[in-house]
Amino acid sequence: MEALALERRAEQNLELRARLERLKKERNAIILAHYYQRDEIQEVADFRGDSFLLAQKAAETDADVIVFCGVHFMGESAKILAPDKTVLIPDERAGCPMADMVNVDGLRKLKAQHPDAAVVTYINSSAEVKAETDICCTSSNAIKVVNSVPTEKVIWVPDKNLGHYVQQHTDKQMIIWEGYCNTHDMLTVKDIEEMKAQHPNALVVVHPECRPEVVAMADFVGSTTAIIKFCRESKHKEFIIGTEDGTGYQLRKDSPDKIFHFASKYLVCPNMKVNNLKKLVKCLENMYPQVHVPPHIAEKARLSLERMLQVK
Ligand code: 13P
Ligand code: SF4
Repeated sequence: MEALALERRAEQNLELRARLERLKKERNAIILAHYYQRDEIQEVADFRGDSFLLAQKAAETDADVIVFCGVHFMGESAKILAPDKTVLIPDERAGCPMADMVNVDGLRKLKAQHPDAAVVTYINSSAEVKAETDICCTSSNAIKVVNSVPTEKVIWVPDKNLGHYVQQHTDKQMIIWEGYCNTHDMLTVKDIEEMKAQHPNALVVVHPECRPEVVAMADFVGSTTAIIKFCRESKHKEFIIGTEDGTGYQLRKDSPDKIFHFASKYLVCPNMKVNNLKKLVKCLENMYPQVHVPPHIAEKARLSLERMLQVK
């Protein structure tokens, strides 16, 4: 970008940030941002985090308004956990294709075929699917949650890759749905091999939404928070990162002296990038778009999320 255009952008961002601070006070609002959001959003967030931490923050906050910068199911989960709060999202079009890969009819059919199985649903799912669920999980607690259910059989929806990873770490019999994350599933063995050849001293660190054969090549596997913590605490200086590129913001902030190579240029979730600083300010100004969940769905879905939050 031209120097002048960059200067203009920086000025605009300062103006937007000043408006945001004023609005936050007026509305008693907090801003939650997933690690996959654009840097300009992560910079102004009250809390940055993975799906689990942000769900916890939504459940605990005293604020009147939660602005959730992530994708739609995250705002929905915040509204379910904090029904008396106003939950805003910068852009309604920010969805998660993986969450759309399972619906209530399909899940009910599977439940009818396996009446002796508990349903464990990844938080990347709609409120309606959560309402059909015994307990939710995120990538940071999936193994613990699956091991916590009283049945031997588990119906797992919707992520086949995370399901496969959990199956390696539990004795439960898992019936795994065929969904996947378009972004993480794009990473291949060839990508990792090429990166390792270019950076032989780097550790490979990947998210469990990646394909099993990619996960098998990793030195460390974990949720976004776990990846950030691992890199911060590791004695190693160089890492090949197999998760969405927004994670780079926190990785570099925590460890400015370390080198991070994203494993593929395709590790960008276009849905997460739909939000930007301008839309964030606008949604708080207009108090729109708001997330609504029908109360009869929210009541059932809440149980599945609250059970997850109680798993230690
Ligand atoms: P975590 O936030 O649990 O790491 O999950 C990643 C993700 O894909 C969120 O959409
Ligand atoms: Fe959905 Fe994958 Fe994007 Fe997360 S990274 S929001 S799972 S498509």
